[in-house]
Amino acid sequence: MLTVRELTKIYKKFSSLFQKEEEFKALNNVSFELEENKVLSIIGESGSGKTTLAKIICALLPYENGVVEINKKNILNYTRQELSNTVQMIFQNPYSSFNPKLTIGHSLFEAVDKNINDKKEFINEKLALVDMKEDAVFDKYPHQFSGGQKQRLAIARALLKNPKILIADEPFASLDVINQSLIMDIFRKIKKEQKTNIIFITHDISSAFKISDKILILQNGNMVKYGDIEDIKKDNNEYIRELINATYLME
Ligand SMILES: Nc1ncnc2c1ncn2[C@@H]1O[C@H](COP(=O)(O)OP(=O)(O)OP(=O)(O)O)[C@@H](O)[C@H]1O
Ligand SMILES: [Mg+2]
Repeated sequence: MLTVRELTKIYKKFSSLFQKEEEFKALNNVSFELEENKVLSIIGESGSGKTTLAKIICALLPYENGVVEINKKNILNYTRQELSNTVQMIFQNPYSSFNPKLTIGHSLFEAVDKNINDKKEFINEKLALVDMKEDAVFDKYPHQFSGGQKQRLAIARALLKNPKILIADEPFASLDVINQSLIMDIFRKIKKEQKTNIIFITHDISSAFKISDKILILQNGNMVKYGDIEDIKKDNNEYIRELINATYLME
């Protein structure tokens, strides 16, 4: 349903020191697929290009080379509106995901499509999926919630678009173990009940093993491996072994 072929992204920035434009290749010839009803994880250490890749899929960033297609249609041919109803991203930092000046109720209402008749019921349906209730959230402001709660609210807001693809950028990063498994259960439920195709971005390969069907491993913008869990567990690549060993050391 999502196909990424030979994607290359170069960041250009002006270096005042050398008085010239410098280029940095953040993604180099990356190809993979997200199949229907499957969970894909994108793994790599900090700076490997994970967020860059996610933003490109949401058409939030331009790219130099390659093709990104959703349902066989190039994302460049989608309108902003169509794309926002097709792919939603939950950003890395739950603390900045909501406008601090608006109540959560206000932010959620703003995100609902005009065509939905009973907006309140629709929002409640999505809040229930993340184990939250309207009366506990509507009149409150973002700072009145914990990181984990904000993360769940951000998931509910993304679901208001009924997206075909949900990209969660490091959803477990700032959470304790209990909240991590809670969020993981919520994603499992969303996959089953909403038939949403999910992309997880994480640097923690062990949480990816728990939830994914396919895994893409990036290192400095290069594809190290794209395969299923069994393939990756038995791979002898040094970087993959390091990622696996790092998570066992933490546990
Ligand atoms: N706007 C930008 N301009 C220039 N370079 C950038 C820009 N955004 C990101 N980069 C660089 O591109 C590389 C990939 O960044 P990206 O944010 O995609 O990494 P990441 O894998 O998401 O890392 P993390 O795990 O820390 O979130 C990094 O080296 C980063 O410094
Ligand atoms: Mg990132």
